[in-house]
Amino acid sequence: MTHWWQRANIYQIYPRSFLDTNGDGIGDLRGIIRKLDYLKDLGIDAIWLCPVYDSPNDDNGYDIRDYYRIHEEFGTMKDMDRLITEMKKRDMKLVMDLVVNHCSDEHAWFQKARASRDNAFHDYFIWHPGRGLDEPSQPGTPIPPEPNNWASHFRGSAWEWNEQTREYYLHLFSRKQPDLNWENPALRHEIYKMMRFWLDKGIGGFRMDVINYVSKDPSLPDVPGKDGQRYVHDSRYYANRPRTHEHLQEMHQEVLSAYPDCMTIGEMHQTSVNEGLKYVQPERRELSMIFQFEHLAIDSGPQGKYDMPVAWDIPALKETLSTWQNGLSGAGWNSLYTGNHDQPRMLSRIGSTETNELRKRSAMAIAAGFLLMQGTPFVYQGEEIGMTNVAFPDIESYRDIETLNFFREASAQGMPEKTAMKIVHLRSRDNARTPMQWSSDTHAGFTDGRPWIPLNPNYPDINVHLDARDPDGVHAFYRELLHMRRSHPVWTEGTFEDLAPDHHSIVCYTRRMVDGTVACVLGNLSAKEVAWTVPDELRTALRQGTLLLASPALEDARVVPESLLPMQTIVCMQAGQENGA
Ligand code: GLC
Ligand code: CA
Repeated sequence: MTHWWQRANIYQIYPRSFLDTNGDGIGDLRGIIRKLDYLKDLGIDAIWLCPVYDSPNDDNGYDIRDYYRIHEEFGTMKDMDRLITEMKKRDMKLVMDLVVNHCSDEHAWFQKARASRDNAFHDYFIWHPGRGLDEPSQPGTPIPPEPNNWASHFRGSAWEWNEQTREYYLHLFSRKQPDLNWENPALRHEIYKMMRFWLDKGIGGFRMDVINYVSKDPSLPDVPGKDGQRYVHDSRYYANRPRTHEHLQEMHQEVLSAYPDCMTIGEMHQTSVNEGLKYVQPERRELSMIFQFEHLAIDSGPQGKYDMPVAWDIPALKETLSTWQNGLSGAGWNSLYTGNHDQPRMLSRIGSTETNELRKRSAMAIAAGFLLMQGTPFVYQGEEIGMTNVAFPDIESYRDIETLNFFREASAQGMPEKTAMKIVHLRSRDNARTPMQWSSDTHAGFTDGRPWIPLNPNYPDINVHLDARDPDGVHAFYRELLHMRRSHPVWTEGTFEDLAPDHHSIVCYTRRMVDGTVACVLGNLSAKEVAWTVPDELRTALRQGTLLLASPALEDARVVPESLLPMQTIVCMQAGQENGA
């Protein structure tokens, strides 16, 4: 038996940048409702909606002030209820973002917690009196050094001093995102209650923000330093710890088991396939799926995300993807994705955007290359029209806290502005957060007002209005691909095999069913023409089977190519004997 989410195509919405309906320059829930038919037509079954809860927006909604309220800039709870109803009418499900590794420092829990040590909320957070101390030092005495050298993901120390209690609190992200103390059962039960509130509204599930970070090494040790850095990242002390699995099993028992149709997907940085398996093996009763990040790290420079990227090592990329395909096949379930609101756009990373033709073909080669493997595909807004990275000339146009903190720190450390801006252009999260490009009208039809972040200036040439009318457009290809994925079980159930693991640019894999059905995906992830001998199996499928997708269009579907054009894609299928289609 397969679950609905194993057959579903999911679309991720970053609500601030999707569609503004009241002219305040910020996308809103009504904007999403307005585009449900667009998404339904594209072949979408469910939406993962980034946070729309009440928030002071230090990290654009990932710092939640009230889990039971909709942020007024997005609308009201009535709008939310209408969104759920309108989605139900269209047989679509809503997946909410669950951000419970931390909340906002403006959440009532933290406001009470920080006021004194003797209230029930104090223990909702992770406190420490300072390096070497067991008890808070006396008021008026110097502030002790931080408890350890852990770095925040948004730069600087992961500890912030709270004078009222003479303690530090832990924040793996910004200082306005205090980490919640999952060792406290009262906190866990508050979270379960909140999850039930949303599930009872009729949502289809949760995407769980950095959920593998919820348990920390209780001894809070210093981590071995690198290159004389003052604050250091070492995920061993907070990622994938044994207690995380216990917490998720408890969450399953307390909440999820009562909603058997509910789908959960955990965001899992720093997670290998062996670690990942533990979260998704159905018998362990933890999560439905995870987002792993290994395939997105292949082009990272030595200093990680905010460093000059290195050239893609395509065989390494394919090896990573195969490892996840083979590792989870029959034992769990994969998610398939190439980007999200935290990533520069894959089209600008691995594709070629030099000409419009190459840009379109690259977008299609990426879609076929990644989204036809075994697993549930996630399309991030704008991918379906081939939206690209942006390169704003100055740092003032950027909004993202991670980007701004990188720039500030790099500049303080003497990195030339030109270099820092280059890295921002290539790696900033704002690359994915510029407004959705609906048309060539002012502000791309995203807003009548002043957009909260500038648009990508390429919107007159890249937008839904233009692309969806182009028979050779990216939108038409995504639409075909997503509908096709639901039209034959081979795309859900078929096993995966990589037929070109070592090739430097060719992607070629099969999906196979026991009845003999075989689907083949072939692509050239290079801006150059590449000579290549097509494997026999694919040759037969092309000659005798059905051509499902081709970019550029093939004049004669039965002619097996001798070489592949730049960014060419071909998808075909040969039905099996037993229930031949
Ligand atoms: C996740 C989110 C990201 C956010 C961070 C902290 O990685 O996707 O946008 O900044 O968690 O909540
Ligand atoms: Ca608005």
